[in-house]
Amino acid sequence: MKSVIIVYHSGYGHTQKQANSVYEGAKSVDGVEAKIFSVTEIDAHWETLNAADAIIFGAPTYMGSVSAEFKKFMDASSKIWFTQKWLNKLSAGFTNSGSPSGDKFNSLVQLATFAAQHGMTWVNLGLLPSNSINSTPADLNYSGSSFGAMAQSQHDAPSAPHSGDLATAHHLGKRVAEMSLKLL
Ligand SMILES: Cc1cc2nc3c(=O)[nH]c(=O)nc-3n(C[C@H](O)[C@H](O)[C@H](O)COP(=O)(O)O)c2cc1C
Repeated sequence: MKSVIIVYHSGYGHTQKQANSVYEGAKSVDGVEAKIFSVTEIDAHWETLNAADAIIFGAPTYMGSVSAEFKKFMDASSKIWFTQKWLNKLSAGFTNSGSPSGDKFNSLVQLATFAAQHGMTWVNLGLLPSNSINSTPADLNYSGSSFGAMAQSQHDAPSAPHSGDLATAHHLGKRVAEMSLKLL
């Protein structure tokens, strides 16, 4: 049995929906146990993270970078970095913002750099972009991301993020779970 954990922050609930979809995707794979933790409760779960096969990181994009709450988690993990307890685990990332771009790529780069500091192996999104003339936000990978999963939550849209972004998040969770069975 492989263990995949999703660690996320969400200030206002939108990234939480994306995180839940990543979790559902990971959980859907036979032979994988998935767990999901908010960074606000992470102090109770460091040992579980240390024992995981894969950790998927997710944060909203605030001011062009990961949220301060998520950065606190990153900084707190430096104690683990000293002993390289996450070395060779799989990793991946997702982020959500108000604008179509919103500088989300920078947040994914931050997450991948963070994973690299821990010696983790980064799993990318593995999806072609949806960029034909008939594309809609209900499509998989409407953002055309390759590094990780992106979602857009317009500030006045009650059902945000878009359904396609949630499906993309589900795909990422499933992909990391499948990779953990294949590679580890
Ligand atoms: C402090 C703050 C900074 C933000 N900065 C950005 C930004 O740089 N780019 C963007 O597109 N949206 C930005 N937003 C919008 C959020 O990314 C968006 O509302 C997102 O859905 C929030 O996710 P959450 O509900 O999980 O907190 C910002 C929101 C806040 C509160």
